[in-house]
Amino acid sequence: MLTQAPKGTHDILPDEIDKWIFVEQKFAEICRRFGYREIRLPVFEHTELFQRGVGDTTDIVQKEMYTFEDKGGRSLTLRPEGTAGVVRSYIEHGMASLPQPTKLFYNITAYRYEKMQKGRFREFHQLGVELFGAGDASADAEIISLLVLFFDSLNIKNLTLNLNSIGCPECRAAYNQKLKEFLADRIGNMCETCKERIDRNPMRILDCKDEGCRQHLKEAPVLLDHICDDCRVHFEKVTQKLQDIGIHYEIDKGIVRGLDYYNRTVFEFVSRNIGSQGTVCGGGRYDGLIETCGGAPTPGIGFAIGVERLLLEMESQGIEIPIRPGPDIYLGSIGEKAEKLCEKLAWELRSEGITCIKDIMGRSVKAQMKYADKLGARYALIIGDNEVESNKASLKDMKTGEFKDISLDTLIDRLVKIRETD
Ligand code: HAM
Repeated sequence: MLTQAPKGTHDILPDEIDKWIFVEQKFAEICRRFGYREIRLPVFEHTELFQRGVGDTTDIVQKEMYTFEDKGGRSLTLRPEGTAGVVRSYIEHGMASLPQPTKLFYNITAYRYEKMQKGRFREFHQLGVELFGAGDASADAEIISLLVLFFDSLNIKNLTLNLNSIGCPECRAAYNQKLKEFLADRIGNMCETCKERIDRNPMRILDCKDEGCRQHLKEAPVLLDHICDDCRVHFEKVTQKLQDIGIHYEIDKGIVRGLDYYNRTVFEFVSRNIGSQGTVCGGGRYDGLIETCGGAPTPGIGFAIGVERLLLEMESQGIEIPIRPGPDIYLGSIGEKAEKLCEKLAWELRSEGITCIKDIMGRSVKAQMKYADKLGARYALIIGDNEVESNKASLKDMKTGEFKDISLDTLIDRLVKIRETD
């Protein structure tokens, strides 16, 4: 137990960190191109925020939240997703009074008590954006175009963009009635969760994973066929705009999403390569959420990408990520005087922005060179008593194996120049 991370969590080790940083930086860069600014929020929030925001008939709230009471008796929950917290912050900090729309992006860990699978964890990472104050279809199309540009920038090919509209509360009320009528003589044979949901939130039943229930739902009325005229026009505008930009999509009438806050446009980017947990990104419009959470009526739309799944997809497509190069120089020494000089040189080199690894183990010259090689150092320099006296040393180019005599006074200038031209 002591030496094992909790089930559903995973360490990101130094050998893997470069790909995480690469993806995170690309995401931040693309978000900024679209005018988004980063927001960082607490890992836990008041439980009620998720109950109200995500919805208390969802699997997330009913089955998957990490909820605890703190020492002050408050019920808190580790965030199962990012949107509710961003909405809370938008209201708390009066962001509505800033020039609109408000465009925010985030890079978070999220927590759901789910069954472990490939691509499904209990602690996982999301890169997401939330856009407040823009209700027009242009916002939907722009947010999707941001995602397409991001995936393109990573060279990811063949993700399918699945699109649907789940209407607004008005059209959904009529649809829910139809769905209830359809389910009336089936619900008796469905799971307990579905039975519980039929009166409180019948549409949530469409999200049931139980195979038996799925069979009963095969002929269920389709929401997209029952949306109102306003919602239909909005959806047509979104699809037209995507066509205008040249973004390929597929209409998937089955997407309902696992969170209650959505209305109108919902979408997912799905991979066929990484197994059953193939949804790399999910998002949609949530025009009622800010009001539900206590703010003024404000339209909203956003998405979140699962980073573990994104990296799995990149791996499955054989996409190489630039690896951080080894240190610019390895400095080794033999003897006390040389060690002192090395300490001074290392300080000066590092102050000039050069990556310098210096011996701190007192190893033999042979062992030091072996270590320099393992680190992938570009150059290596070993200083002994002779070098201290002559103020000269032999700089080894670790790529070619060649040695060059240099004056130690010129070492820094030389390395700065080499770095510029290498
Ligand atoms: P979501 O569909 O629940 O939406 O999650 C978004 C993405 O997070 C999923 O498509 C998946 O890639 C990843 N993900 C979800 N659960 C797990 C898990 N247990 N393990 C690994 N990855 C996972 C949301 O979270 C919404 N907040 C998205 C959104 C933002 N909608 C509007 N704004």
